[in-house]
Amino acid sequence: MSEEEKRIPRHIAIIMDGNGRWAQSRGLTRIEGHKAGTENLRQIIRASVDFNVKYLTIYAFSTENWGRPKDEVKGLMTILESVIDRELNELNAEGVRICHLGRLESMPVKTSRKIEHAVEVTRHNDRLILNIAWNYGGRDEIVHAIQQIIKAGIPAEKITEELVSCYMFTCDSPDPDLIIRTSGEMRLSNFLIWQSAYSEWYATPTLWPDFNKQEYQKAIDAYGQRKRRFGKI
Ligand code: FPP
Repeated sequence: MSEEEKRIPRHIAIIMDGNGRWAQSRGLTRIEGHKAGTENLRQIIRASVDFNVKYLTIYAFSTENWGRPKDEVKGLMTILESVIDRELNELNAEGVRICHLGRLESMPVKTSRKIEHAVEVTRHNDRLILNIAWNYGGRDEIVHAIQQIIKAGIPAEKITEELVSCYMFTCDSPDPDLIIRTSGEMRLSNFLIWQSAYSEWYATPTLWPDFNKQEYQKAIDAYGQRKRRFGKI
């Protein structure tokens, strides 16, 4: 890999925060904020292809988000369903492979079927791997991995970090190089807690619907300046 290529994160993960505050400051409903956030996501997916990012993981609906008002939860599920209906063909033509991180069970059947369909249709693409964390929680993912390891009858001495990584929902993706969080918050919020051990962090006060291609470029440039040592010197 050339020095130039090393400056572009192979895998970027984003906590898309601030839709609610963006809407509130404009006198709009929270769902309108999520809709604006969805439009923005489309730009960022395109920019990821332009910037040659290979893996993009987005935190869209956490296991904790079920605790939000019913209307907001329903609105978010509807947004995801209609985005898949509207954008799937184009994303497929652009070479985007959609993967899902999280639990499909305990989601409305209509939503989980749409996700399964999008995963199936795009499974041969490899220009950009788009991991959509939906009904995802980092601790839940670890519990799920332990359950699967035990069910597979794997003996304790065979359990290695590589094996555990393979039982995570992200088995097919490398660990994220860069995690971006918008809206000024500085916490991980149960996102990729196993995979982020050595990820670089970038936080910006910009609210997610305003996080445009230029802001994205700034985050990537900041990453390009970092010295990654992975615990070594
Ligand atoms: C956080 O902002 C955002 C969410 C919980 C939802 C993110 C969802 C989308 C951008 C749209 C749907 C995604 C896809 C994949 C179609 P917040 O509501 O916590 O904002 P706040 O902190 O300002 O209230």
